[in-house]
Amino acid sequence: MTGKQFIAEHVKPIGSSGIRRVFDLGATLENPINLSIGQPDFPVPEQVKQAMIEAIRSDKNGYTVTRGIKPLRDRITTELQREFDWDPDVFVTSGTSGGLVLALMATLNPGEEVLIGDPYFVSYKHLVRLAGGVPVCVNLYDDFQLHPERYESAITKKTKMMIACSPGNPTGAVYRKDDVQALAEIARRHDLLIVSDEIYCDLSYDGPNASPVPFAPERTLLLRGFGKSHAMTGLRMGYAAGPTALISEMAKLQQYTFVCAPHPAQFGALAAMDTDMSERVDSYRNKRDLICAELEKTFTFVRPSGGFYVFPEAPAKYPSATAFVEDAIANNVLIIPGEVFSERDTHFRISYAAPDEKIREGCEILRSLAV
Ligand SMILES: Cc1ncc(COP(=O)(O)O)c(C=O)c1O
Repeated sequence: MTGKQFIAEHVKPIGSSGIRRVFDLGATLENPINLSIGQPDFPVPEQVKQAMIEAIRSDKNGYTVTRGIKPLRDRITTELQREFDWDPDVFVTSGTSGGLVLALMATLNPGEEVLIGDPYFVSYKHLVRLAGGVPVCVNLYDDFQLHPERYESAITKKTKMMIACSPGNPTGAVYRKDDVQALAEIARRHDLLIVSDEIYCDLSYDGPNASPVPFAPERTLLLRGFGKSHAMTGLRMGYAAGPTALISEMAKLQQYTFVCAPHPAQFGALAAMDTDMSERVDSYRNKRDLICAELEKTFTFVRPSGGFYVFPEAPAKYPSATAFVEDAIANNVLIIPGEVFSERDTHFRISYAAPDEKIREGCEILRSLAV
């Protein structure tokens, strides 16, 4: 009685996330050094918690309007005007993932192609396929920058959009402004939509993150979230901003799917927008410096400029990154093999959203395996 007969054909080829496999392997360890987790290691800020508690106590637990509570939408609009001098339509999503799902559902006709930089965030390929589209990978090795010319040469008559992600997961790369501008020009020339996943935009350590919004505001769908910047991953809060018709179709679909983002968490997000996170950002910058120093003599990697990941090459003595990761896990360190995020299995992802001591201990073990 497995129930297998009920599963749709297009769902079966989707492998269970390799990240989950690492968690399963890790579950056999008693006290692993966990450098695999994609969420901050600090708690939700106190004023965010208070705002949510107050919302719950004052019975703000029912549905909200589909697009989210007005004070939050207004606050997001003000922020986008300040940052980009941009006045797009806006709505509140159930996490950045909620925005991604709705964006793909609202735009893709069967067989239309979506350009995705490889390495990519795990969900992109699968969500594109579920929405009836075809993911087309654009190779961004070895520097993980945008390489607009590679995007342009991957364009066909069926190309509908490109997904950009800066700072990147799993690479931590922050795109160069010139490349983002070039990508925006390509998008305009070929009449493509740019979906810009900026969930890590507040975690940019060497200067501001480069967004396509200033270069192609009329064809950029901006997706952001509160999970990574404010440690609110489980509260499922994000927002989408972009062209009117697109936002209105996405909001229509939200009505029939997610209905609305969690009501008390919307008050949490509103408080989050007034919470100064600069100390946390500084602390992550220090962790970035720490992990780079720990890895640099032994591993080859691109120094990350944002997010909380680094994506080094697996040591040459291993046949694949997966083989290296299995060995690391056998030695008590949880990391993720590159094949989860890529068509290649040559690199591995370390998350440095962890206590400094754990970063040091974990890197020492990884170094000992590499020599
Ligand atoms: C690049 C990227 N986009 C989107 C998401 C999903 O974010 P959320 O938890 O807000 O749905 C993640 C989470 O890891 C991510 O790394």
